[in-house]
Amino acid sequence: MRGLVSADGLDAAAVAAFATRGASLLAGEPPLANPGPVALVFAEPSTRTRVSFAEAVSRLGGRPITLDEAGSGISKGESMEGTARTLATLGVNGLVLRTGEVGLPARLLAADLGLWVVNAGDGSGEHPTQALGDTLALSAHGGLEGRKVALIGDLAASRVAHSLEDLWLRLGVEMGALPVAVGSPDLSLGQAAAGLRPLANLEEAQEWADVLYLLRPQTERLPAPAQAAWEGGGRAAAYFAEYGLKALAPGQMVMAPGPCWPGVDMAPDLLHGEGSLVSEQVRWGLAGRLALLERLAGG
Ligand code: CP
Repeated sequence: MRGLVSADGLDAAAVAAFATRGASLLAGEPPLANPGPVALVFAEPSTRTRVSFAEAVSRLGGRPITLDEAGSGISKGESMEGTARTLATLGVNGLVLRTGEVGLPARLLAADLGLWVVNAGDGSGEHPTQALGDTLALSAHGGLEGRKVALIGDLAASRVAHSLEDLWLRLGVEMGALPVAVGSPDLSLGQAAAGLRPLANLEEAQEWADVLYLLRPQTERLPAPAQAAWEGGGRAAAYFAEYGLKALAPGQMVMAPGPCWPGVDMAPDLLHGEGSLVSEQVRWGLAGRLALLERLAGG
């Protein structure tokens, strides 16, 4: 394995293997391989992904080297390809990259620059390790096959949604979509992706789904006038009124990749209440990254 840049690099066998191995590593079993020096280059903000990758590298006995755009040669005009070549020359074994540029991790992997590459989120493209961790979390809480999952929110801009749509359809999950056009003045619905059951409103989503998967409004990707409408124009309250999850039915679960917006995408008491898998997603996100990095290191 030379990297993971898209959910299409995962299949049922890989997911099953990462689930078993990730649980063992999370429980403290000794690693089979040490990733050595690994560069974590984050050109967009992150808490969960950045910290869990750093933690995973450390727990496997390796050395995470964190680079921000502002504190590196990237801010002086060095390309990401040039940066990756420099890192490889310095003996760095792998690159974990978060970038605003869709497709950049895939291009770096294809360029074969002497180090493995993992996509930690590329703009509104993909976020395959979030999808991996979420898959492990849902598998551990009732399984995937035949599960009905409604994706709700800003699906067009969501890299998490794009990775989940691909992976979960292939793993037998029934998927519905309530795609909110968060930049539109009336928060109208967008198009559901192929293969996803279009859901007309939150009530239909709640009646149909076992799991409600919430994607927050990606306001940072909106043009300035639409951003201003969110910041001061009351659009957050309108979003909560129409699409914010207020309650769960018995046995129903809520998932969200974070950051979550309590009071906008869901009622605050749901975030860590009964039926919430949000913390489990974080825990299994670490498990998946441990197993993935061990594999990339040759384990
Ligand atoms: N889910 C996710 O990618 O969160 P961060 O932006 O905090 O890494």
